[in-house]
Amino acid sequence: MIRISNLTKSFGAHTVLKSLNLHIGFGTTVLLGPSGSGKTTLLRLIAGLDKNYQGEIDSEKMRMSIVFQEDRLLPWKTLRHNIEFILPRDKVNQERINHITESLKIQALLDSKPFKLSGGQKRRCAIARGFIYPSDIVLMDEPFSSLDLYLKLKIIADINILLEKEKRNLLLVTHDITEALLLADEIIIFKQTPVTEFQTLKLDLPKNERMLQSSVFTEWERRIYEYLLSDKES
Ligand SMILES: Nc1ncnc2c1ncn2[C@@H]1O[C@H](COP(=O)(O)OP(=O)(O)OP(=O)(O)O)[C@@H](O)[C@H]1O
Ligand SMILES: [Mg+2]
Repeated sequence: MIRISNLTKSFGAHTVLKSLNLHIGFGTTVLLGPSGSGKTTLLRLIAGLDKNYQGEIDSEKMRMSIVFQEDRLLPWKTLRHNIEFILPRDKVNQERINHITESLKIQALLDSKPFKLSGGQKRRCAIARGFIYPSDIVLMDEPFSSLDLYLKLKIIADINILLEKEKRNLLLVTHDITEALLLADEIIIFKQTPVTEFQTLKLDLPKNERMLQSSVFTEWERRIYEYLLSDKES
């Protein structure tokens, strides 16, 4: 779906991605890696926000929407207007806005302005915009990093239901292993700098059967830690 070939990205003398070959398939892919490993850099290149690179990124003309780490809500507009604001004029569809906001449990807040909302509610709104925008794939960069574990688990469960219902693709960037294991069909794990090699982990257990305390979950976690902490460093 997204094919990355021989991709090299440097900031001055600092090379972050080097001769990287990567394929991102349908479903939910999570880019997991430690801080500074190049996750946001790669997401921005895929989104076309940074065109300064060598190599090829073929995203087959897929339409993309992006959920940034910060909410990016206009304080003087209601949630409904914040959502409508980012849509092409002919794509404003109240039925769809109602459906997605209902799935993310913020429909009752559509006529409120951001200052009246909790951090979690604002997060849900930012995520809702990513889904309401007519795209083939939603890109998210650390969308839950400001949330406590309980709220994070609730929002992830809602997103998994929405993804299943809408058959949408998701590319999520995070350094949080639990998030990755709850959402991903495939995890791509970065650890070296510059990123040339990576490990992939395919998770074939249905999302609604993934329990934090289950032995499958613990085994996945073990495999990720084993890779991240092994000595094979660049
Ligand atoms: N605009 C920039 N100019 C110079 N260096 C940059 C720029 N953006 C990123 N970098 C560098 O590239 C490297 C990768 O940064 P990136 O933001 O992609 O990491 P990350 O994996 O997203 O980290 P985090 O988990 O902390 O968000 C870092 O060393 C960072 O300092
Ligand atoms: Mg980042």
